[in-house]
Amino acid sequence: MSTPRKIVLALTVNGQDHDLLVEPRRTLLEVLREELGLTGAKEGCGTGGCGTCTVLIDGRPARACLTLAADVQGASVLTIEGLADALDGDLHPIQRAFVDAHGIQCGFCTPGMILTAKALLDENPSPDEAEIRQALSGQVCRCTGYAKIVDSVQLAARRLAGEEETP
Ligand code: FES
Ligand code: FES
Repeated sequence: MSTPRKIVLALTVNGQDHDLLVEPRRTLLEVLREELGLTGAKEGCGTGGCGTCTVLIDGRPARACLTLAADVQGASVLTIEGLADALDGDLHPIQRAFVDAHGIQCGFCTPGMILTAKALLDENPSPDEAEIRQALSGQVCRCTGYAKIVDSVQLAARRLAGEEETP
């Protein structure tokens, strides 16, 4: 049996450059979790249906379970591990808002939710409820009923805009 061909994958993940020797058929989710030990992105369905594997690729939300590593050569990837302050460990304001507004129950969907919310707020700092629900419509949560998640994104938007202080 022949050994599968490997490629050198150059990736920037959470601001750090990596050159990784990987099989081109491996998914970005496998590379993040198994090669880099970044297990914040979860494998829920593995088929693109739930959003728990969502990461930002060059600032856009993407399903890491459906993304072949070979297709993101040279990309910049942000995972949930890269969101908190690397120096002092402080939570990102969106993470803090999810805690404060009770947008988290079991937490399985939370990394994908928060990264999707980040992409939304980067593009639209003051979304209305319909825009938040639309942006998060591909993210499945089995626990919260979504209302608290919408509250969390609205709270994050107000804090990021300086309209409300973080306690
Ligand atoms: S694990 Fe990727 S969409 Fe469900
Ligand atoms: S908090 Fe449990 S799946 Fe969303």
